Amino acid sequence: MADADVKAPEAPAAAAAPAPTAEAGAAGAEAAEETPRKPVDPDFEPEIIVFACHYCAYAAADLAGSMRLQYPSNIRMIKLPCTGKLEVIHLLRAIEAGADGVYAAGCLEGECHYLKGNLWARKRVNYVKTLLEELGMEPERVEMYNMSSAMGAKFAEVATEFTNRIKELGPNPVKREGVNPHAAARAALGGVAMPDEAGSSTAVPVEEGHAE
Ligand code: FES
Repeated sequence: MADADVKAPEAPAAAAAPAPTAEAGAAGAEAAEETPRKPVDPDFEPEIIVFACHYCAYAAADLAGSMRLQYPSNIRMIKLPCTGKLEVIHLLRAIEAGADGVYAAGCLEGECHYLKGNLWARKRVNYVKTLLEELGMEPERVEMYNMSSAMGAKFAEVATEFTNRIKELGPNPVKREGVNPHAAARAALGGVAMPDEAGSSTAVPVEEGHAE
């Protein structure tokens, strides 16, 4: 039931999407010609915020470290008791503060310790994608991933793939000098964000939000 609730919104949109006409295609091509994408500075190093559930992705990052797996240093993690604590406003605040990319990394579907926290997180991430699109920003700057604590290799792979994706997109257009996206995102989360020190985890109840 929960799965159906979560995955349903994407299918009708795709089904309802009208087939592109030759006219629309030409208009799109014209628009693309009018606004050519600026070439990305090859030295661009994105700032990426990862909202990581401490049960899975955060532990997977530790595992990747102990396996000596390489992944980009562009990512800055914020530990959460569950990705279900992540609200739309937290994702938007990270982007508004200049993060070039943001992703949530939660437990595998069906394995969230709060049952549906990771499903709610995926809904919120998808909602933020639509908001970014409406604002003229690339929805690919926000993503949701699932993994278990045993998936150190997947953690490294996701961090690498996402970093490469953001390098291709280029800098966040609303980035401002002197604003630290990691600090801003952490501040927006308030007491929800967990300290990074080992052994500091405290179970926090997760409630469904209203980001439909
Ligand atoms: Fe890991 Fe919910 S996403 S406990």
